[in-house]
Parts: sequence; structure tokens; C-alpha cells
Amino acid sequence: MSQERAIPKHVAIIMDGNGRWAKQRNKERYEGHIAGVESVRAAVRAAVRNGVEWLTLYAFSTENWGRPTAEVEAIMELFCRTVMGEADDLARQGVRVRIMGERTRFTAKVLEMIDHIERTTAEADKLTLVLAFNYSARREMILATRALAERVSKGEITTDDIDEERFASELMSRGIPDPDFVIRTSGECRLSNFLLWQSSYAELYFPEVLWPDFDEAEFDKAMEEYARRERRYGLVTEDC
Ligand code: FPP
Repeated sequence: MSQERAIPKHVAIIMDGNGRWAKQRNKERYEGHIAGVESVRAAVRAAVRNGVEWLTLYAFSTENWGRPTAEVEAIMELFCRTVMGEADDLARQGVRVRIMGERTRFTAKVLEMIDHIERTTAEADKLTLVLAFNYSARREMILATRALAERVSKGEITTDDIDEERFASELMSRGIPDPDFVIRTSGECRLSNFLLWQSSYAELYFPEVLWPDFDEAEFDKAMEEYARRERRYGLVTEDC
């Protein structure tokens, strides 16, 4: 009898390698990011087709503000252009977009685009695309800790009330299930401040392919890899 293939409910991707992809072609780094947007489209299509319900993409880390101004501006511009161009189409595909990150340091235009894409796609219910934008896992844990400490000091909760569930409810990812599968492209084997709390039991996958070359076939390959993994959550199984 054929067994159903395991499909991750939540896939999270660190989109790495845009700069190297551009360099290999004697192009500017921002051209790698432009090419990377096509891979974002491919990943969304492939996620919907595979029945993935949540897709989180690490689009801009808090540390990325330290890149040259021209590159930061190019990424912000690309974000705005992509949002303007894709919002209606994403809604039609059933893709709801949620932006996860601190809403600080952004220009008014970027804030407007965040609001625009979240509102336009709010009713979609096939896939939730979470864009981690100005996101840092350590920062979100600090903010959560501060929020809980404040509630304790106001007497709203006691320290004993702080458990995993309550801590998670103060994170930027509140309401989002933990990722089952974390992919980082370009062969780098690091999490780089991405979903550190949420990825505790995630399967990790580090394909060599650079992000602009991560097409639908690569996404399908990743799904096959996930299906081969055996998840034990710290327990034991019968055969070991
Ligand atoms: C990492 O590659 C990529 C980024 C920091 C930016 C990713 C941004 C996009 C794909 C475009 C904007 C996103 C959306 C959702 C519209 P890198 O530059 O670190 O590559 P390298 O390690 O080869 O230098």
C-alpha cells in the first residue's frame, strides 16, 4: 500500500546567495536581488501546489541595515515595486501576506506598502506568506522578555505563569505555527538570527543552489528531502 508523503505545514527559507549569483555574472549585487524576486514567485507557486500552508521568507534582517546604503535602498525599492505589482495577483492566488519584523527605520513609503499588501491579501486563505522584514530573532526574544517583565511588574501575571506558550505569544510570530522545515540556500549552514525559538524542532536543509537559481524544481526537491526525514521531537521510535 502506498503511504502518504509528509508535507511540511510551514516552510521557512533563508534566501541566500543573491550577491554571489550577481558576482558570478559580473553584475551589481542589486541585480542578484532582482533575480531573487523571481525565485520568491516560484517558491510561492510551488508552496501552493505542494499544499504548504505557511511560507516564511527572510527578506531583510535587522543586521542588513549595515550594508551599503545603495544596496539597502535597492532592496527597499524592490520590496515596494514587488508589493505594488503583485498584491492583487497574490490575493487571486489565495496568498495572504503578513510582514514580520520591527516597524522601525522604514520610510513612510515602505510602511504604506506593508499596510497595502496586508490589507489587499487579508482574506486569502490558501497560503500565508510571511515576509521577515527588519527581523532579528534575538531582538524579538528581548522584546518578548521585556513585555513579560512589564506584565509581571504590573501584577498581571506571576513569573510562574511564564511558560513556552506564553513566551511564544509575545513573539512577532504569534499565531504562526513553528516551521517544520528550514531551508537556507547557497550552501551556508547557519541560521543567522532567523526564527531561533521557533526552529527548535525544525528539520534543516542546506542546498548548494544560490537563491536566484532556486526554482520550482528545487522547491520540489526540498519537499522530497523533507519527506525522507524522520522527526522524533526528542523521543525514540520503535526501530532505534
Ligand atoms: C541574501 O543574499 C539576500 C538578501 C539579504 C535580500 C533578499 C531580498 C530579496 C530576494 C528581494 C526582496 C524581497 C521581496 C520579498 C520583494 P546575499 O545578498 O546575502 O547574497 P551573498 O551571500 O551571495 O552576498
